[in-house]
Amino acid sequence: MSRTTKQSMFLATAFLIIFNLVSAANAVPNSATAKVDPFQMDKLLGRGVNLGNALEAPREGEWGVTLKEEYFDIIKQAGFNSIRLPTRWSAHAMAEKPYTIDPNFFKRIDWAVNCAISRNMPIMVNIQQYVELYTDPNAHKERFIALWKQIAEHYKDYPDKLLLELFNEPDDALTPELWNDFLKDTLAVVRESNPNRIVVIDPARDSIPSSLKFLKIPENDRNIIVSVHYYFPLAFTHQGAPWMSPKYDPNSWMGTKWMGTDAEKKAITDEFDIAVAWSKANNRPVNLGEFGTYKKADMESRVRWTKFVADTAAERGMSLLYWEFCAQEFGLYDQQTRSWRKPLLDAVIPPAVSPPALNKAEGSNPTK
Ligand code: GLC
Repeated sequence: MSRTTKQSMFLATAFLIIFNLVSAANAVPNSATAKVDPFQMDKLLGRGVNLGNALEAPREGEWGVTLKEEYFDIIKQAGFNSIRLPTRWSAHAMAEKPYTIDPNFFKRIDWAVNCAISRNMPIMVNIQQYVELYTDPNAHKERFIALWKQIAEHYKDYPDKLLLELFNEPDDALTPELWNDFLKDTLAVVRESNPNRIVVIDPARDSIPSSLKFLKIPENDRNIIVSVHYYFPLAFTHQGAPWMSPKYDPNSWMGTKWMGTDAEKKAITDEFDIAVAWSKANNRPVNLGEFGTYKKADMESRVRWTKFVADTAAERGMSLLYWEFCAQEFGLYDQQTRSWRKPLLDAVIPPAVSPPALNKAEGSNPTK
C-alpha cells in the first residue's frame, strides 16, 4: 500500500470519525419530545377530565358517548387543564400476529389527540378495557406489547403534551408481581421509539393508593408519572352501578350517603397521605387519574365527596382528572340539555380557580 493511499485513507477515516461525531451531536432525537420534568408535566395536568365511555367502549357510541370537537372547547372553557382518553385498542387490532391496529381507529385517536393539543391541553392516552388481561394476562402479553409498539411508534413525533399510560387499573389475574414484569417489558418497548415521553403507570389492584407499595418501576427511568384512582367507599360511589356485580351487590348499597364526618374524611386523607409518602420516598409525581360518583347517589353527597376528594388531592400538589365528562353515569356534563351539572363541576374546579370566560376576540362560546 502506497503512502498516499494510506494518507488518504487516514484522512478519509478521520473525516468519517469527525462527521459521525458532529452528526451525533446534532442528531435529531428519534422522538420529537425533549426531556420534560415529570413534576412540571404533572402541574400542567392540573385539573382535568376523562373523556370516558367513548373510545374505550367496544365501539365508540355503544356506551352513549360519541366525541365531538365542541366538547374540547366546552371542557377548556370550563377551566379544565387536561384530558385523559381511555382507549380500547384491543377491540381494533388483529387477534393474531402481527396484531395490526386498524388505521381508521388510529385516525380517530389522532383526531382526539390533536383536538386536545391544539387547545394546549395535555392528553393522556392509555390502554383500557383490554379485558382479557384481567383473566388470562400471560396469553395476551405478546399482543399487549405489540399494541404498545405500534402505538408508541405511531406517536413518537407527537408533542410532549401527549402522555402514554400503559394500562388502566391492572387487577385480578394481573397481580402486582405480574404487573411489575409487564410494565418493565412494555416500558422498554415504548422507550425504543419514545425515549423522553412522559409515560404514566398505575399500580395494580385497581390503581388504589395502598397498592403503590407493590409497584416496581425501573429506577433509571425518570420520565414517569404514577397514577392512582380513588372511589372509596365503593358502597357510596358505586351504589347501583351494574358492572360491580357479581363481585359485589351494588343494589344493596343504594341509599348510602357521604356526609363528610371526621371519620369519613380521615379515611380519604389517610389514603392520599399514603400516595404522598410514596411519591416523596420514590421521588416520582403521583397523579389522581380517576375519581367520581355514579349517578345513583344523592347529589348533595356526590358534591360533598367530589369536592373533598378534589381538594384533598390538590392540597397535596397532585393533579386530578374527574371520571367522567358526559356519560349518563358519572357525567359532569349533560349531553341532552347541553349544560354542566354546575354543583358537581364547581366541586371539581372551584369557580375561583376557573379562568375568566373567553372574550369575543378570542372565540365564541360553543355552549350557547
Ligand atoms: C374504570 C372503568 C370504567 C368505570 C370506572 C368507574 O375506569 O374502566 O369503565 O366506569 O372505572 O367504575
